[in-house]
Amino acid sequence: MQKLFINGKKELSGKISISGSKNASLAILAATILSSTSKLVNVPLVEDIFTMIKLLKFIGLKISIKKDKNEININNTNKKIKTLAPYNLVKTMRAGVLVLGPLLSKYKKAKISLPGGCAIGTRPVDLHLFALKKLGAKIKIKNGYIVADAKNGLKGANINFPKISVGATENALLAAFSAEGKTTINNCAIEPEIKDLVKFLNKLGGKIKIVKRKIFVNCAKSINRRISHKVILDRIELGTYLIAAALVGKKIIINKINPSFIKSEIQILKKMGVRISVKGETVIILKSDKIKKINVSTQPYPGFPTDLQAQLMVLMTRAKGQSKITEKIFENRFMHVPELKRMGANIEIINKTAIISGPTNLTGAEVMATDLRASVSLVLAGLVADNRTVINRIYHLDRGYELLEKKLKNCKARIKRV
Ligand code: UD1
Repeated sequence: MQKLFINGKKELSGKISISGSKNASLAILAATILSSTSKLVNVPLVEDIFTMIKLLKFIGLKISIKKDKNEININNTNKKIKTLAPYNLVKTMRAGVLVLGPLLSKYKKAKISLPGGCAIGTRPVDLHLFALKKLGAKIKIKNGYIVADAKNGLKGANINFPKISVGATENALLAAFSAEGKTTINNCAIEPEIKDLVKFLNKLGGKIKIVKRKIFVNCAKSINRRISHKVILDRIELGTYLIAAALVGKKIIINKINPSFIKSEIQILKKMGVRISVKGETVIILKSDKIKKINVSTQPYPGFPTDLQAQLMVLMTRAKGQSKITEKIFENRFMHVPELKRMGANIEIINKTAIISGPTNLTGAEVMATDLRASVSLVLAGLVADNRTVINRIYHLDRGYELLEKKLKNCKARIKRV
């Protein structure tokens, strides 16, 4: 099994380029079921994307990848489509459940394995099913599968989500795309990845508008010519490198970004005393000596993202005094805490809040990655720690971070995969 070895305390300097968004790509790949031919560029070539491609190929789509260009071409003119997503392809990546909406919308039926729990919580799909039922789908759970059909096609409806969910909003949108009449999705997620999905669907002939926390969908037919789409940047990857730079950067430059995606993150880092400046599409982070304590809660966008909670916690270990971080999205997302404690962090968890007392000097240790974002927080901890850190189970990292070691090595980090 592969491991990452990091020799910490090395100041980083240089440029880092940010890949395309994994989460936007996953939803848009699911949306290509609605298209006939499409070309996606700026897709990060990470494990989750390959799993989604495997699933789409299983369904019957023809897909080719140009690795050097991060380009994926999808052709869905095959008449023999399987409206099935098997357990082995959904269990490793929950986003597989996103094929449910488009399959129902286009082929009027779908059988999708229930994804089951995962390391960060139970992660149910009740809100996905709630939305699809509102659109007229008949849904049963049988032998671990969601069995859905809409013999007479889906019908537009008013969907009022009781709770904000990214995936359920995406599934609702994908299903409503060609549902007869009008659909309104209230209390929806409005993450930039949702907006990118809407942009793709509108290129495909969709009539979709987002207004505040509502999405209006008018029934559409997908156009029959090839469409092309450039996926937005990965704001979580960007946030991760901003935090890395705040921890050990001397001067890190990140170009070609859209700073409006990460306003809340930049604000928080500035409040923590990180020397960060944004000019147009460039962010520059300079060595920050004094990190200040802060209290943060994770929230749906535009709030601070749960996907950066673990990384920010590492920076909090550098702050003087007590910082608090409250996890409001997932119930079990502090698995990095015991590992950070093994590296010397002083963290106490009370209910949904982690209290971090600092500053502490982290020391290298052998640690174990448990999920994607927890893993990268250990990389950040390794970069700032004394001596050597060894990270096990790094396949979690490969699910979502493209060329992580290369990007860090380019900035002089001492990191290697064995
Ligand atoms: C997506 C992101 C993930 C991110 C999360 C929150 C992808 C592929 N993944 O995950 O990186 O951490 O948004 O920003 O885009 N919930 C229910 N019932 C449901 C669905 C969700 O109760 O049917 C709950 C979840 O357990 C969680 C909360 O709603 O507590 C938010 O989850 P959701 O926004 O759906 O996350 P994902 O779409 O799974």
